[in-house]
Amino acid sequence: MLDTRGIDHRLHPLGEKAVSPMRIVIFGSTGMGGKAALTSAIGRGHDVTVLARSEAAAAKAPKGTRVVLGDALDPAAVREALKGTDAVVQYLGVGGLGDGRPNDLVPDATRLIVAEMAAQNIRRLVCASNVGVPGSAPFFVRRILLPLVARKLLPILDAKVKMEAILRASNREWTAVRLPALNEKPRKKTLKVSAEGRSTGFSITTADAADFMLDIIEKRQFVDVTVAISN
Ligand SMILES: NC(=O)c1ccc[n+]([C@@H]2O[C@H](COP(=O)([O-])OP(=O)(O)OC[C@H]3O[C@@H](n4cnc5c(N)ncnc54)[C@H](OP(=O)(O)O)[C@@H]3O)[C@@H](O)[C@H]2O)c1
Repeated sequence: MLDTRGIDHRLHPLGEKAVSPMRIVIFGSTGMGGKAALTSAIGRGHDVTVLARSEAAAAKAPKGTRVVLGDALDPAAVREALKGTDAVVQYLGVGGLGDGRPNDLVPDATRLIVAEMAAQNIRRLVCASNVGVPGSAPFFVRRILLPLVARKLLPILDAKVKMEAILRASNREWTAVRLPALNEKPRKKTLKVSAEGRSTGFSITTADAADFMLDIIEKRQFVDVTVAISN
């Protein structure tokens, strides 16, 4: 069934014919999760742009990647990175678990990306979110277990709550992919998916998470929802 914006909200089985190549920009492509998204996007033959914060990071970008130097909080850099693209992967993070203090990098950058996407009429945006945000797990797990095992995660979750609110209020075709702990083991190619954004497991490989993000961009799936995945 198509909605008023012409979006097909039915969930198509993974494995359907993919739209390729697309012009995809990845924010956070040097991070643990973003590196895998970059590898997956290039492997699928997409034209990829990345935003790099240093010459050294830019020099490491795979051959054929369009590199824009700059910061995700700089409107000019974000505008330049988005130029001529069809879809966006936002995989920004504060450096692992960060320092445990409040940090609005992710919501602030997402707000900027959404605004620049609207200005350039780019519709599709897939963002990394976290299992642990409200609605993703039972109260006991979120408010009692998580603080006990990973107290530093709480400000990161607060930032993701803000990010998801920005996405919901946007008129872009967004997906927030709620991720459990990432690991860099070989891809398993098996995925548990909750279209309601409820936690399905404790871990996922970066490669499987990246493949999922690219799949839902190519097949226009899980539009305007929070979705949770795990292996
Ligand atoms: N790792 C996990 O187990 C896990 C689990 C669930 C969800 N997530 C979520 O997934 C996202 C990515 O996690 P990750 O572990 O891959 O993070 P990460 O390794 O810390 O990578 C963060 C990325 O963001 C970039 N970045 C940070 N500040 C920036 C800025 N101001 N401008 C431009 N780029 C900036 C970093 O670039 P530089 O290289 O220049 O620093 C890097 O590419 C996070 O939102 C995290 O909460 C992660």
